Amino acid sequence: MSEPSGLSRRSALMKLGILINGGIAAILAVPIVGYLLSPLRGKAGQGFDAWVSLGPLAQFPEGQTRLSKFQNPSVSPSDGQTAEIPCWVRRVTGQTFQVFAINCAHLGCPVRWFAQSGLFMCPCHGGVYYADGSRASGPPERGLFQYPYRVDGDQLVIHAGELPTLAADAAAGRRKPCVG
Ligand code: FES
Repeated sequence: MSEPSGLSRRSALMKLGILINGGIAAILAVPIVGYLLSPLRGKAGQGFDAWVSLGPLAQFPEGQTRLSKFQNPSVSPSDGQTAEIPCWVRRVTGQTFQVFAINCAHLGCPVRWFAQSGLFMCPCHGGVYYADGSRASGPPERGLFQYPYRVDGDQLVIHAGELPTLAADAAAGRRKPCVG
């Protein structure tokens, strides 16, 4: 008489185990599926091809290079401060700008602008760039990457959905930095 009871207990425990494992698998699958689908979400939404304002032109005096920040349009609100991306803005003259990625073209450390010497310097391996972003010395094989930009009214706007890299340049058939 104890067999049926033992069987039903075993069966109930088996079902409970399957239920718990299924729940854990579902919880683990949510971020993985979200990650795998994120490129689609970015392209379909405002993220991947987004143009983002860096602010009024008046924030960027002619002949100077200023640090600016923008919200990465390809991330979710829960990313917090990591969604803020810094960049260097050089206003050459009038509506002619250069907007540099902050990351060194060598291995990506954030470069800093030194106005007195008129150079960008990388703290990691000594990479140096001229004011126009071209390579001056050190390990980087090229100049700083630049964001395509345009001027909308009194706003400086950059193409911010993807980081400027050689791969992004090739994929886009290169959108040149521009004045609109
Ligand atoms: S990361 Fe800048 S020189 Fe290496």
